Amino acid sequence: MENIIIINIIFSIFTFYCTYNVIPKLKKMFIDANLYGKDLNKKTENKIPEAFGVVTGCTFLITMFLLIPVIFGRHMLQNEGSKFPHSEFVEMLAALLSICCMLLLGFSDDVLNLRWRHKLLLPTIASLPLLVVYYINFNSTTIIVPKPLREVVGLTINLGVLYYLYMGMLAVFCTNAINILAGINGLETGQSLVIAISILIFNLIELTGDCGQAHLFSLHFIIPFIASTFALIKYNWYPSEVFVGDTFCYFAGMTFAVVGILGHFSKTMLLFFIPQIFNFLYSLPQLFHFVYCPRHRVPRLDKYGTLSPSYAECNSGDISIIGRICLKVFSFFRVIDIKETADGKFKCNNLTLINLCLLFLGPKKEKTLTITLLTIQIVCSILAFVIRYPLASIFYDV
Ligand code: UD1
Ligand code: MG
Repeated sequence: MENIIIINIIFSIFTFYCTYNVIPKLKKMFIDANLYGKDLNKKTENKIPEAFGVVTGCTFLITMFLLIPVIFGRHMLQNEGSKFPHSEFVEMLAALLSICCMLLLGFSDDVLNLRWRHKLLLPTIASLPLLVVYYINFNSTTIIVPKPLREVVGLTINLGVLYYLYMGMLAVFCTNAINILAGINGLETGQSLVIAISILIFNLIELTGDCGQAHLFSLHFIIPFIASTFALIKYNWYPSEVFVGDTFCYFAGMTFAVVGILGHFSKTMLLFFIPQIFNFLYSLPQLFHFVYCPRHRVPRLDKYGTLSPSYAECNSGDISIIGRICLKVFSFFRVIDIKETADGKFKCNNLTLINLCLLFLGPKKEKTLTITLLTIQIVCSILAFVIRYPLASIFYDV
């Protein structure tokens, strides 16, 4: 087991080195292919090459393909066909298929600008290979009931098809959650790195436990992912030389969903997504268009060179009843800034965690804002470990 991890680390260092060197060489090629965007929070009109997630995705996949013979090679060399771990092999291939599919779909999104309904449908379809393999190899849809509820429900509860629905939705959530907490330099790659490192630490802690094999499976993916993302963040960090695009957000989200589902720790993995879950719930009124949602919800650059919250503006009459209820709830918790004038004009801050931070903490430089949000992500990861270990014993027999 240790040997495979060491080889994985060596391969990953090589992946980092290749990705780090290849990105600057490809910048012009992306701009020539019209794959570029404007940095919304800068005064300059420079063309910034976009969709560089496809580069890290490719170097990650190449590393994984090279690792397959290493991971399964010893079984092949032993020449004992009966001992070959076919189910683990299929799990790995299905996982790579789902990630590969999501990379393709993310790249299509960057090139074609897909609509929101496609963004929800595509990850669902891409997660099917995973769910089929989970069904064939594991098919455990039973969950252990927390201690306080056992009197009523019993020790375990079989969720059946609902569990598959949950896993499918997990893939949709992970891919989109990273994409909607984005828009300032370094945030997409930064949050993905923090989540990946949290997963790595969790896998290492659990490696010697009962589910060691599943956590080793997760490590095979997470180590090369961290390596390629480290190379990307160097160029995506403030001031960004490249944008990662939806390609990276989908690729990262699917990688997390894959290791969470097939590593059998999907609930713990969701704990590492606390800021994304908050951002998603906070965004819901705009995502469902109960409140007007502009094309970009990123903060706006003010005349002092700092970022301030951006606002969604519309006529008061355009807000639906459900929208009004949501706004009331947010106002009650004091997490929204609403300005409504007598002549029927309405405006409220765009409902993202990024704008909320600016609302609470005041205007910030872009780099400081990214660091603040990543600090929140790290604190939430620490909280996740506290919930998973010390506090879990209150609810479960661990
Ligand atoms: C999502 C968000 C949108 C946000 C956008 C920024 C929702 C519903 N959608 O849309 O509000 O504005 O991501 O990524 O929440 N960009 C920067 N600086 C960065 C990164 C991106 O200015 O550090 C800009 C660039 O112009 C780039 C564009 O954002 O071209 C990419 O946006 P895109 O990923 O296409 O937006 P969506 O994912 O659709
Ligand atoms: Mg995006």
